[in-house]
Amino acid sequence: MQIQENISLKPYNTFGIDAKAKHFVTVANISELEQVLTLKNYPNKLILGGGSNMLLTKDFDGLVIKMNLKGIEIVSEDETFVTVKAQAGEVWHDFVLWTIKHDFGGIENLSLIPGNVGTAPIQNIGAYGVELKDTFESCEAMAIDSKTLKTFEKNDCNFDYRNSIFKQEAKGKYIITSVNFKLTKSNHKLNIHYGAISSELEKEGIKTPTIQDISRAVITIRESKLPNPKLIGNCGSFFKNPVISIQEYEKLTKNFNDIPNYPVSDDTVKVPAGWLIEKAGFKGKQFGNYGVHKNQALVLVNYGGASGTDIYNLSELIQKTVKRLFGISIEAEVNIL
Ligand code: EPU
Repeated sequence: MQIQENISLKPYNTFGIDAKAKHFVTVANISELEQVLTLKNYPNKLILGGGSNMLLTKDFDGLVIKMNLKGIEIVSEDETFVTVKAQAGEVWHDFVLWTIKHDFGGIENLSLIPGNVGTAPIQNIGAYGVELKDTFESCEAMAIDSKTLKTFEKNDCNFDYRNSIFKQEAKGKYIITSVNFKLTKSNHKLNIHYGAISSELEKEGIKTPTIQDISRAVITIRESKLPNPKLIGNCGSFFKNPVISIQEYEKLTKNFNDIPNYPVSDDTVKVPAGWLIEKAGFKGKQFGNYGVHKNQALVLVNYGGASGTDIYNLSELIQKTVKRLFGISIEAEVNIL
């Protein structure tokens, strides 16, 4: 374990922003993490997972701790269920592929989401009708002040749409070190109702899909809509889909009768921010070396060499325009640093 100085964070954030960390360290196990947290000279710390949900708008004047704890193990199992523990530094998609290979069901719809296992619970990652909370059993996290490990059961985590306790009360206080998932070994509960999945399976002529088929279909859909961060810098959805009241929604449909919605409760609906941004004219717009993705308006992209401030300013322009046109505030999903 070695503390390095003046390190470019470009390889460590999927937006590919060339910001620098004053100090940088990689930790591979609990005891290294404990040691690093004990160091007195670095009051300012940034915990880094896969770097797939952050926009760096400036250099980081402190210690970046890159979580590199690895390992996947079966904790317990019976005829129907298996509990699998994955360490925080495992790449999320590699973990999904491991579950698919073992025919453990539950997270196949979450294939190809960028990021690491340890950061997935923070924003309760979700896609195609499934959220992390559906299979999350518990996680272990280190308290930054006491350096002790605490178990968070599912009920402790206050999971919600792109939200959890780790974005609220526990923010900045804990570092997730491993996550336990409860997965199915048989009678997999398939989730194929999301339009894009059912049409992809139909296109492939699959009538009784396996979890392997679903994972493949999700990969195909994501590859066709979302830019590969290895080729074009991005953080997936930049904004959350806003939740508005039915009254607000009905008012909007008077001017925009094709506005899609997903029911959330009896009196609220979610509207796709991608639709609002597309209607506002931003889809596919390029401003020099950054812009809005051509296939999914929710995704801001760095074509190479853009600064975090460029992208942040674009996000503000989009928010203001959407507010002016529709009266709806859209909130960033990514963490802006
Ligand atoms: N839409 C447009 N134009 C666009 C994009 C979307 O009109 O450019 C409209 C269409 O009506 C489309 C609808 O929005 O039918 C929904 O689009 P999509 O299926 O792509 O889903 P989304 O609501 O835009 C959310 C997640 C994605 C996730 C997909 C699939 C959020 C913020 N984003 O996007 O998550 O992959 O659903 O489940 O909830 C991510 O978080 O990084 C991410 C990619």
